[in-house]
Amino acid sequence: MKELAAIILAAGKGTRMKSERPKVLHKVCGRPLVAYVVEAAKAAGAAEVILVINREMEEVRSLFGDTVKYAYQDEQLGTGHAVLAARPALTNEDRDVLVLCGDTPLLSGKLLGELIEEHRRTGSAATVLTAEIDDPEGYGRILRGESGEVQAIVEEKDAPPEVKAIREVNTGSYCFDAALLFAALDEVGRDNAQGEYYLTDVLAILRCQGRRVAALKAPDPALTLGINNRLQLAQAEALLREEIRRRHMLAGVTILDPASTFIDAEVSIGPDTVIYPFTIIEGRSSIGRACYLGPGVHIRDSRVDDGAHVHQAVLVEAVVGPGASVGPFAYLRPGTVLAEGAKAGTFVEIKKSHIGRGSKVPHLSYVGDAQIGSGVNIGAGTITCNYDGFRKNETIIEDEVFIGSNTNLVAPVRIGRGAYTGAGSTITRDVPPGALALERSEQRTIPGWVNRHREKLSCAKEKGKLE
Ligand code: UD1
Ligand code: CA
Repeated sequence: MKELAAIILAAGKGTRMKSERPKVLHKVCGRPLVAYVVEAAKAAGAAEVILVINREMEEVRSLFGDTVKYAYQDEQLGTGHAVLAARPALTNEDRDVLVLCGDTPLLSGKLLGELIEEHRRTGSAATVLTAEIDDPEGYGRILRGESGEVQAIVEEKDAPPEVKAIREVNTGSYCFDAALLFAALDEVGRDNAQGEYYLTDVLAILRCQGRRVAALKAPDPALTLGINNRLQLAQAEALLREEIRRRHMLAGVTILDPASTFIDAEVSIGPDTVIYPFTIIEGRSSIGRACYLGPGVHIRDSRVDDGAHVHQAVLVEAVVGPGASVGPFAYLRPGTVLAEGAKAGTFVEIKKSHIGRGSKVPHLSYVGDAQIGSGVNIGAGTITCNYDGFRKNETIIEDEVFIGSNTNLVAPVRIGRGAYTGAGSTITRDVPPGALALERSEQRTIPGWVNRHREKLSCAKEKGKLE
């Protein structure tokens, strides 16, 4: 059996996306289109993956690093031309090669495996993955001979009406004998409606050489969807999202309302976690076991550990420790870490801060650039005044501290272990361990003042001096 390589065509302009971004870098379920195709090729056993890109797509390199090879197609002269651009990168031509498009994110390693199997079983020079679809517009049509063998692929723009009526289309995925593919590509011209070198012409050329050309019809045509515009992007997103939720539910996650729950492709979720409606989990987030999320939670690139509860909250690049609780109505910004059993409660915003074990920020607070020890209670309305207009300054609160309600902590400032601050204080200087820091004027109480005040006012009213 020959070794398997894959060439993924991704250099096209993708004009129908109407976008500044290269098409294959558009995302479905938080992941670039081309990443799905690379993964499917590898899952199907490709030992070598060559991505054909153009110079404006250097970003792709940061995505895959050296896990794939890169070939450049500087001028986009068609899919046949793109495959030729990959030729020098291929280690040798004594192999089977998958040729795939970078814009078919629903392809699975399993389906590609079936394509390769069919190719090898029939001993073909080329095997094309086809699909029978209701609306074949835009696709190349599969032309079969009398006994059903594939004769050619005709592009939509070159097709006469009787060919346009064919509903079996080229999905853009193929398996070739590499040596025969490149020999045939040398013969492909650009005498067609688009003036391009069509990869699809290779099939008719191979047929004329008397080689065997086979086809595998995809059992589920939806999985071969190629993304050319934003409508198809949304279709792929919907299909993949459903598949992702299915996978999590079968793995033990309760999702109360799948329709309002959005989970990105790379998110992991532990069993026995319960997700309430209107929850979005994006990017590289990981959720532990037995967590309660939602309703109304938006999590991006964050970690939520086992047994944590998050309700009506936004988390961005934050860590919520085991059994910790967040919300309702909390905003955890990048660099926030809640240790085990900690709490960020109602109308609380935390940025770049560590909240120690069992410490609580229950209500109406802003905590930024703070290191808070364990067993600390932060009174309602406490604010860290971390920004002096030039720098962000740090607040350090040691273990077992009690911060009174409505305290302003003017950073940089340190509150020593076990210290208290009086409610309403503006703390500008360090507080030593065990001390009470109080910063407010003493209360004056004037007995009987209210009645005297009322009498004064009603007298004035009688004399007509008041309305
Ligand atoms: C192609 C097929 C068509 C098939 C359809 C499936 C050809 C001639 N036609 O048409 O039969 O039904 O895919 O989706 O192959 N690309 C390059 N360089 C180029 C041109 C394209 O790298 O010069 C890449 C694109 O980035 C894309 C892929 O090749 O990933 C397919 O190109 P696209 O323009 O989408 O081809 P279609 O017109 O859809
Ligand atoms: Ca396409």
